[in-house]
Amino acid sequence: MNNLILEVNDVAVAFGGVKAVNGATMSVEVGSVTSVIGPNGAGKTTLFNLISGATKPDSGTILFQGFEIQKLLPHKIAGRGIVRTFQGAKVIKRLSVIDNLMLGAQNNPGDNLINFFNPRARNAFEKQARERAMALLKQVGIERFANDYAGILSGGQRKLLDLARALMAEPVMLLLDEPFAGVNPTLVEKLLEVLHDLRTEHHLTFLLVEHDLETVMNISDRVVVMAEGRVIADGLPNSIYENQAVVDAYLGTRKLKS
Ligand SMILES: Nc1ncnc2c1ncn2[C@@H]1O[C@H](COP(=O)(O)OP(=O)(O)O)[C@@H](O)[C@H]1O
Ligand SMILES: [Mg+2]
Repeated sequence: MNNLILEVNDVAVAFGGVKAVNGATMSVEVGSVTSVIGPNGAGKTTLFNLISGATKPDSGTILFQGFEIQKLLPHKIAGRGIVRTFQGAKVIKRLSVIDNLMLGAQNNPGDNLINFFNPRARNAFEKQARERAMALLKQVGIERFANDYAGILSGGQRKLLDLARALMAEPVMLLLDEPFAGVNPTLVEKLLEVLHDLRTEHHLTFLLVEHDLETVMNISDRVVVMAEGRVIADGLPNSIYENQAVVDAYLGTRKLKS
């Protein structure tokens, strides 16, 4: 066993004629923060969909803790500990904040036919899940909204809720798709603080897609650069700036824009 928690080997998937991911290879070390960057359309979100099982690869393998997962259904992959948040922070607006979290609870005995007829097991589970949900809301700093509709939350607060929802499933590795996009600076600070605690206290591993390069450089142990469905560079944050292929494919166009 090595210290790689995730290994993506030569993975490809095409939609119609579009090769969204076209032979991508990358890995993530246990306990690290690894960021995937790259221009729009590079295949970053598709890579996340492949890792979480929402999309099946046409070829290649994905290993999590040494096991091949590329053929598993999404809930089986989540059960192994890979949990994701969404680019648009998926919350159900007409449900209370705490009930949004209750949906993220796993192994609900209510889903199991035998336990379905055992109200005691169900109630005990409910109570435990609710306590856990409140603790997580507190951890991300939105417990005061627990009984409000999720629809009243700001964009940044929804991201915090989406993060808490992901934590309900007790992840080993979190996939965060643009966690800082559209979040005001105060909430970015909060989010960074929560991520830091999760890492140091709960030893979670993070894989994230993020556009804000300054944040990426600050928080990442490794940076993976994608362009046109491939991984074109992979290394320490500072090494990325010195990579000519990266400057050409990504940083160059970014600099021209600003
Ligand atoms: N479900 C889909 N159907 C068709 N094309 C898709 C689908 N998902 C992604 N693509 C295409 O695949 C490419 C990579 O998209 P995406 O993974 O969303 O990139 P990124 O997240 O890096 O911006 C884009 O050209 C996109 O239009
Ligand atoms: Mg994307």
